[in-house]
Amino acid sequence: MTNIGPLRTAVVIGSTRPTRLGRGVAEWVATDPNPDLDLVIVDLAEMNLPLLDEPQPPAWGNYSHESTRAWSAVVASFDAFVLVTPEYNHSTSAVLKNALDHLYSEWSDKAAAFVGYGIDGGTRGVEHLRAICSELSMAGVGPQVSLSLGLDFRDGRCSPREDQVAARGRMVAALARWGGALRSLRSTPERVGDETRPTLECPELRPRAAAAMNQLIAGLQAGLDNADADLFDASFAADVIWGSPYGATLNGIDALLTVHRSLMATGAAPASRFRIVQLRAAAPGVAVAHVQRQALGEAGEGFSEMALYVLVERNGRWWLAAGQNTPITNPPSR
Ligand SMILES: Cc1cc2nc3c(=O)[nH]c(=O)nc-3n(C[C@H](O)[C@H](O)[C@H](O)COP(=O)(O)O)c2cc1C
Repeated sequence: MTNIGPLRTAVVIGSTRPTRLGRGVAEWVATDPNPDLDLVIVDLAEMNLPLLDEPQPPAWGNYSHESTRAWSAVVASFDAFVLVTPEYNHSTSAVLKNALDHLYSEWSDKAAAFVGYGIDGGTRGVEHLRAICSELSMAGVGPQVSLSLGLDFRDGRCSPREDQVAARGRMVAALARWGGALRSLRSTPERVGDETRPTLECPELRPRAAAAMNQLIAGLQAGLDNADADLFDASFAADVIWGSPYGATLNGIDALLTVHRSLMATGAAPASRFRIVQLRAAAPGVAVAHVQRQALGEAGEGFSEMALYVLVERNGRWWLAAGQNTPITNPPSR
């Protein structure tokens, strides 16, 4: 999300059928030349979101699935949205509703514009979509684009009439106005004095960062399961910085491996499962994550930890640059 320059605006393709018209519609929308918007196509077909499977309501923002966290990072990185929806049975598509339902605060206080298409211009689909977006505290701009299957498509391709270009222009101009106004509403915590805090997440880097972090976790899991410190530390850089849950700090793999070999020999860490709690793909070749080690078995049988891990890519391989472990305990009572 940005506070200066053009509004980072997602053009969300709301259909995923293999023969869909939606992709062509979104591509046409993204050609609008308005300089106040940076239009980026977001294809739900590439997001692979399952039907909503989060145990907790999205409004709590406590996501347990990587698919949700990835979608959250993508949506959070945008200032505004153009939602491109087909009309299915007089409503919007299930896939777009599902994508909206997955998140909550990531949509809030952001402007939305609507492009509908269908036999009658997709207006009934857009009406439903407007109501849904309103519940998510999105500001839906009035001007919209309604493309008719009979008049704005030719040979299965999006080929809008001339006056649709003007309608698109009115719509994105309204989106730029409202999106700009809402940016200041959202901006307070993002400013430090005269400076703007940057959003570090780069959605396009996320799949590689997530794969690297999962590979690290697989090594930790195998190391712990086999009581093998060398396996556990196989992805650690030579100059890794490590913090134990009790405040001791270690510098470098030699010191760390010595400690881990001795801990593995005494079985200090209980049988556990590792999982990514949250991940930041902050820059090319940099991944930062909270990783939980949850002790298995009855409560109290072993201690669990929350680690902060930093991975850095070097020559095509990812290495642990830093790790800090914190024991998971009950907070002190007040
Ligand atoms: C399940 C389904 C329901 C549809 N219902 C409507 C409808 O209620 N009104 C309408 O105008 N078109 C309807 N259509 C036609 C779609 O608007 C048209 O097929 C359009 O290309 C769908 O978008 P897509 O190709 O991006 O999936 C329906 C199509 C599908 C597949």
